[in-house]
This record gives sequence, C-alpha cells and structure tokens, in this order.
Amino acid sequence: MKLFIDTGSVAEVEELASWGVLSGATTNPSLLAKEEGDPGDIVRRICELVGGPVSAEVVSDRAEGMVEEGRALAGLHPHVVVKVPFSQAGLAATRELTDAGLRVNMTLVFSAAQALLAAEAGATYISCFMGRLDDIGVDSTAVVAEIVAALRPAGVTSQVLAASLRHPMHTVTAARLGCEVATAPGKVLRQMLVHPLTEAGIERFGDDWRARPEFGTWLEGLVDSSKVALS
Ligand code: G3P
Repeated sequence: MKLFIDTGSVAEVEELASWGVLSGATTNPSLLAKEEGDPGDIVRRICELVGGPVSAEVVSDRAEGMVEEGRALAGLHPHVVVKVPFSQAGLAATRELTDAGLRVNMTLVFSAAQALLAAEAGATYISCFMGRLDDIGVDSTAVVAEIVAALRPAGVTSQVLAASLRHPMHTVTAARLGCEVATAPGKVLRQMLVHPLTEAGIERFGDDWRARPEFGTWLEGLVDSSKVALS
C-alpha cells in the first residue's frame, strides 16, 4: 500500500518527504484554507516535494464548473490529480475529465454503492473517509472491506484510497483490507514511528557499543576507508 500525506502545509511535506516513505499527497479546500500564500504555489511545491500524485480539489457544484476548475488545477503541475466530490455532477465531471486523459480522485465516498459509481465514471482513486464514518457510529472497517470486495471481482482498476485517517490503526486496517493507498495527516504518520521497544532497543544497542570504545574506533576507521575506496 502506498502512503500519501494529507495536508496543505508545505513545511509539513518538507519534513515528512525527507523520511523517504511518501508516494504522493492529498489536499482539500479546508486544508489549503488554513495556509498562507498562493494555493497554486503550495500545490506546485508539494508536487515537487513528493514527486508523485497530488490531489487538488474543485469547489464548483456544477459539472461544467468542476471540469473547468479541474482542467485549470491539472495545469498547475503534471503530478496534479483532480479531486472531485461525489455527487451526480461530480460523476459527470469525472467522466469528462477522465475521457480527456486527466486523473480524478473521487472524494467523499462513504459506501460501496458510491464507490461502484465512482469506478464506472473512471476515477483513478476512490477516497473513502474512515474517520468521518467512525465519527457517526458507522464501522469504517466494514465499509472499506465492502468497497474493496465490491470492486475487486469486477476487475476495476480504480484504486481505493483510505482517507480521513485519525490514528495508526486506520492505516494498518486500510493496508490489511487491500486499499492501494492511504493518505494520513502528518500527526498520524509521526504516531506510526513510535514504539517503546524500538526506542529502548536503540538505547541498549548504543550503550552496549559505547561500553567497548575500541569498537567505536574500529567502525570510524571502517567508515573512513570506505569513503576513500568510493572517492
Ligand atoms: O483529505 C480528505 C480527508 O482525509 C479529510 O480528513 O480528518 O477532515 O475527516 P478529515
């Protein structure tokens, strides 16, 4: 499963992209509205930083307006994927944009029935919001499982993108269920780093090694000679 970052913050993408685990990013109007600066510059910079698909969302509620905005957003950078909210107009816009060769991330999908429609409209990504389902007492695991099960036997090529992730277990569940992508906020990605046994293990390895100073000297010498061999 590919990991995307869900953010409008260039600083956050700069930090997280340095880990080498991001394949793309997703933004939405709410995330971009929190940021200072030109939204186009932000989207372009995120595209450069992640070097992969970056979703930028249309806001029109008419199919024609969505198509116009989608074409314009796609012109910002070759990595831009047009994010289109699920609706009748959104489906029509998705069909037109995908027929024109643009990639669409159909967002705000909360059921297998909606996912089937999004797939038929040609969406490259289908964003299912896990956190917002859990917020209203609907089991997001069951819904995502149903979406994956409904799309796969039909040989649908649309990728299921788990979104609205609130904690690391949402990410793990998305992977276990066969989602192709999960987009997580920086906070969740940072939480995924943490395990007390990892921290304790690193500390113990360091202490044991430092107890043998001559081994430290040996490793420094090895590093130096490998640099000489490479130069
Ligand atoms: O970008 C879409 C989605 O991930 C939003 O998440 O936390 O606002 O429900 P959230």
